[in-house]
Amino acid sequence: MIFDTHAHYDDEQFDTEREELLAAMPAAGVGLIIDPGCDELSSRRAVELAERFPHVFAAVGWHPENCAPFTPEDIDALRELAKHPKVVAIGEIGLDYYWAENPPREFQQEVFRLQLALAEELELPVIVHDRDAHADSLEIVREFPNVRGVFHCFSGSVEMARELWKLGWYVGFDGPLTYKNAKKTVEVAAEAPAERILIETDAPYLAPVPLRGTRNDSRNLTHVAARLAEIRGTTPEAIMELTAENGKRLFRIA
Ligand code: NI
Repeated sequence: MIFDTHAHYDDEQFDTEREELLAAMPAAGVGLIIDPGCDELSSRRAVELAERFPHVFAAVGWHPENCAPFTPEDIDALRELAKHPKVVAIGEIGLDYYWAENPPREFQQEVFRLQLALAEELELPVIVHDRDAHADSLEIVREFPNVRGVFHCFSGSVEMARELWKLGWYVGFDGPLTYKNAKKTVEVAAEAPAERILIETDAPYLAPVPLRGTRNDSRNLTHVAARLAEIRGTTPEAIMELTAENGKRLFRIA
């Protein structure tokens, strides 16, 4: 069974066939999916999908790229949404220093801290987006020793990953693990403790080789599982089972 712990089915790229696609997932081997929100509206949409499909769960949060309109009062709306029984995490939250037009770094950090504090208050795990912000992301999660979660689509060094594993965090592997330039991530994938690995699509983005450049969906995780299996000297089936168990443990899904 595949557990895709990160897929944005609320994205407009799925508008033409969202229902059919999600309904077909269990028969295609995808037994569980988490849809993380990127702002309040997308978080609400994720919760609505989770209400309609038994195999879909939601996370709610403000993505760093989308957080410009965020005000501290928005935390109250997130808190209410997060009380829904199918909300299993706060996410997607974090820092993105890659795009020059993103909100200022200090503001992203403030929004990140407020959402980590909410996760601590509600005793929920978090889904962290860290792009070109490794040192600050690690420093800020260290300020919240009671909060655990996943660094989604992990792109840091193996040294940073070791720090996260020590703190009880998970790392997520996505399509980029299958790309030719994935050296650093391959190193992390080889060394990761078995109980700290998740697989995710970030659909509709980051389709794995040989589908790179197409609209991604959870069925394509077989390619990520196959690459991880190759790196770790095991079978794709074993990787799927292992990561599904890890995901259920982190997000407390029975
Ligand atoms: Ni994402």
